[in-house]
Amino acid sequence: KQNKLWGGRFSESVDQFVQEFTASVSFDQRMYAQDIRGSIAHATMLAEVGVLTNAERDAIIDGLGAIKQDIEQGNFEWSVALEDVHMNIEARLTDRIGITGKKLHTGRSRNDQVATDIRLWLRDHIDLIDAELLRLMQGLLGLAEREAATIMPGFTHLQTAQPVTFGHHLLAWFEMLRRDRERLADCRRRVNRMPLGSAALAGTTYPINRERTRELLGFDEVCYNSLDGVSDRDFAIEFCALAALCMTHLSRMSEELVLWTSAQFQFINLPDRFCTGSSIMPQKKNPDVPELVRGKTGRVNGHLIALLTLMKSQPLAYNKDNQEDKEPLFDAVDTLHGSLRAFADMVPALEPNREVMREAARRGFATATDLADYLVRKGIAFRDAHEIVGKAVAYGVAEKKDLSDMSITELRTFSDQIDEDVFDVLTLEGSVSARNHIGGTAPEQVRDAVARARGQL
Ligand code: ARG
Repeated sequence: KQNKLWGGRFSESVDQFVQEFTASVSFDQRMYAQDIRGSIAHATMLAEVGVLTNAERDAIIDGLGAIKQDIEQGNFEWSVALEDVHMNIEARLTDRIGITGKKLHTGRSRNDQVATDIRLWLRDHIDLIDAELLRLMQGLLGLAEREAATIMPGFTHLQTAQPVTFGHHLLAWFEMLRRDRERLADCRRRVNRMPLGSAALAGTTYPINRERTRELLGFDEVCYNSLDGVSDRDFAIEFCALAALCMTHLSRMSEELVLWTSAQFQFINLPDRFCTGSSIMPQKKNPDVPELVRGKTGRVNGHLIALLTLMKSQPLAYNKDNQEDKEPLFDAVDTLHGSLRAFADMVPALEPNREVMREAARRGFATATDLADYLVRKGIAFRDAHEIVGKAVAYGVAEKKDLSDMSITELRTFSDQIDEDVFDVLTLEGSVSARNHIGGTAPEQVRDAVARARGQL
C-alpha cells in the first residue's frame, strides 16, 4: 500500500530497502509527546489567526490527545512506510478525524517540526539530568561534611604528596560538577529557542503568529532566521560537548573509586549492591558501577565527534543528514543520565576506612613539606630547608621510620633548629589544619565550603 503523504509526485512506490534505510521511526518515536505538544500549539495558533476554524482546531486537539493515549497504552502501531514519528502521527490523525487532520500541516514543514521536537525533547531531558546532577552534588556535600576531618594522603603523580582531608577531596569532585551544571544551564538557554515557523526553509505565506506559538511551547525566543532555524544543530553538539566533559569528570571519579576499593588501597568500601562477583573467582567483588561509567565515557566522546562530523559540510538549509542527529543525541542523554543516577545513588553509600586512609598518609612522609616550612619559620632559607628534610626522609626510608616516628635526638642530627614543638607540625592533624584559608584542606575550611556550596545550590 502506497500510503506516503507525498504520493502526488511519485509514479512508482519506494524501493522496499530504501524505505527501511531512510526511515527513522524506530528511534524518533521517542519524541512522540513533544511532536504532539508542538502540533497542538501550532493548531491553536492557526485557529487564532483564522487559518483553521475553532471546530477544526478542537477536532485536531482531541484527535492528538487520543493518539497520545494510544501510544502510551501500547495501542499504536508504528509504520515504517510512514517513515518517521511526524508522519505516523499525522496519518493516524487523518484516519481518526478525516479531512481536518490533513489541515494540521498548513504553514509547517517536517523540517521545522523535527527541529522543534528535538529541542523540546532535549529541554525536557536537560531538566531530568539537572535533577540527577543536583542529587549527586548534594550527596557529595553530605559526605564531605561528614568526612571533613578524615585524613588521607593527597597525591601528585599518584605518589603520596601531602595529607589532605577526604572531605576536601570530595569537594574537588563537587567543583567539577558545579561547572558542569553551569554549562548545562547555559546550553539550555540555546536549546530553548523555537524553529517552528521556519517551515521548509524560507518561512510560510500564512499569517502565522510565531510569538504566540513560542509562548504556548515555553520557548524563550524564536529562531530569527528560517534557514538557520531548520538547519541549526549547534545545540545538540553543545549538549554532547558538555555531556562528554561531565562524563570525563565522572570517569576520573570512577578511576579513583576503582583504585580506592582495591585490596592494595582499601580506602573505600563499596556496598555489595553496587558490585558484582566473578563466575570463577569466589573471592571477587568488582566495582562494576564505576568501571562501567568510566567505560561509557567513550561512547559520549564518540557521539560528540559524530555530530561535529555530521554538520561540518552541510550546505544550508535542511539536509537528510540531519536525521542522523538523533541516535547520538539520545544515547548521550541516556548515558549521562544513567551515569549520574548511578553516582547519585552510590556516593552517599561510600564507606571510607578512616584508619587505613590515615595510616597511608602517615606512611608516605606526607608531612615533609610541613617540616620544611617549620625550618623556614626558624629562619632557614626554603631551599636549604628542602635539602635538610630530604636527608631526613632518606634516613627514614633506610630506617623504615616516618618523620613523626623519629625521636627529637634523631631529628636534631639534621638541623639544630629543630625543637620539641616540631611534633605539632609533623602530625597529620597539624598539617591539614595549618592549611586554613579559602580553598585549603583544613577541616574548618571544608565545613565552610560545604555551607557556602549549600547556599549556592
Ligand atoms: N525524519 C526527518 C529527520 O529526522 C524529519 C524531517 C524530514 N524532512 C525532509 N525534508 N525529509 O530529520
